[in-house]
Amino acid sequence: MNAIVSQPSVLDRVLTMELARVTERAAVAAARLRGHGDEMAADQAAVDAMRTELNKLPIDGRVVIGEGERDEAPMLFIGEEVGTRKGPAVDIALDPLEGTTICAKNLPNSLAVIALAERGRMLHAPDVYMDKIAIGPGFPAGTIDLKAPPAENLARLAEARGVKVGELTACIMDRPRHARLIEEVRATGAAIRLIGDGDVAGVIHTTDPLQTGIDIYMGIGGAPEGVLAAAALRCTGGQMQGRLILDSPEKVERARRMGVEDPDRVYDMAEMAAGDVLFAATGVTDGNMLSGVRFLRDAIVTHTIVMRSSTGTIREIKATHKDMDKFT
Ligand code: FBP
Repeated sequence: MNAIVSQPSVLDRVLTMELARVTERAAVAAARLRGHGDEMAADQAAVDAMRTELNKLPIDGRVVIGEGERDEAPMLFIGEEVGTRKGPAVDIALDPLEGTTICAKNLPNSLAVIALAERGRMLHAPDVYMDKIAIGPGFPAGTIDLKAPPAENLARLAEARGVKVGELTACIMDRPRHARLIEEVRATGAAIRLIGDGDVAGVIHTTDPLQTGIDIYMGIGGAPEGVLAAAALRCTGGQMQGRLILDSPEKVERARRMGVEDPDRVYDMAEMAAGDVLFAATGVTDGNMLSGVRFLRDAIVTHTIVMRSSTGTIREIKATHKDMDKFT
């Protein structure tokens, strides 16, 4: 079984709570622009807020999954050094606003997300696509295999869960590239939840099928989002595999420069986010697991999940912020 295996705690446990502040602040900034139809403005607000809060953390941080390459993203770019530099050396994967379109349309499941790992323990994924498959905790190792046909993965999962294939629900992004996958899954009798955006949430939702109704995530989304989702699953338990889609010599070369030697390699979640991993996400819009930000007359309410791989502790924090000035 894939229960959390106790690992040495390397990162300061106080950091787990500090991370919540980072995603809370980004989520509130983005939520002010929820439903305004302006993806870029909401993203920029989240980036500014996350960076400000991140730079207060007692870490020697390096962004490995961020807003883009140095020449295309002015802030939180890959390689940017963040934190006070007085603390543990960590690699950081972040997405201040995961699901920019969702936020702009005020649809479910946009999040502010961050993950921390010891320096050198996170996959430096280029900004390409990744083929992904994920299930939640409690199943025998090897229940899913990215290289196997969808019908086989669904059959194995159904057997492990003790249900019929037709009683499973797969979460898949609603994209033309998934036409064949969707057809193959439907042919098994399994249900599909098609999502417009936000596959970090899509993967995390597999960890609690009772609440979310999602048993398995399948399909192609962003590689940076894949690493963030893998970090979350390292903390909750579960299984995930990903393979970078390097379908041009330029992408193969870009990945090689980031340390990817084998372009066809299937990464296990522990290879995408290894060692002691911390993860935090705050809801921007209402979602299946996290509520969105609420603005009240005298407070702002946020809903955050923070988790740690070394202990498997998952904390849900419903915070009522009375010091609203810090969010303006
Ligand atoms: P953004 O937050 O950058 O808009 O990403 C949203 C997202 O839906 C991710 O969750 C997903 O991994 C990726 O875009 C899929 O990319 P595409 O829209 O090109 O299919």
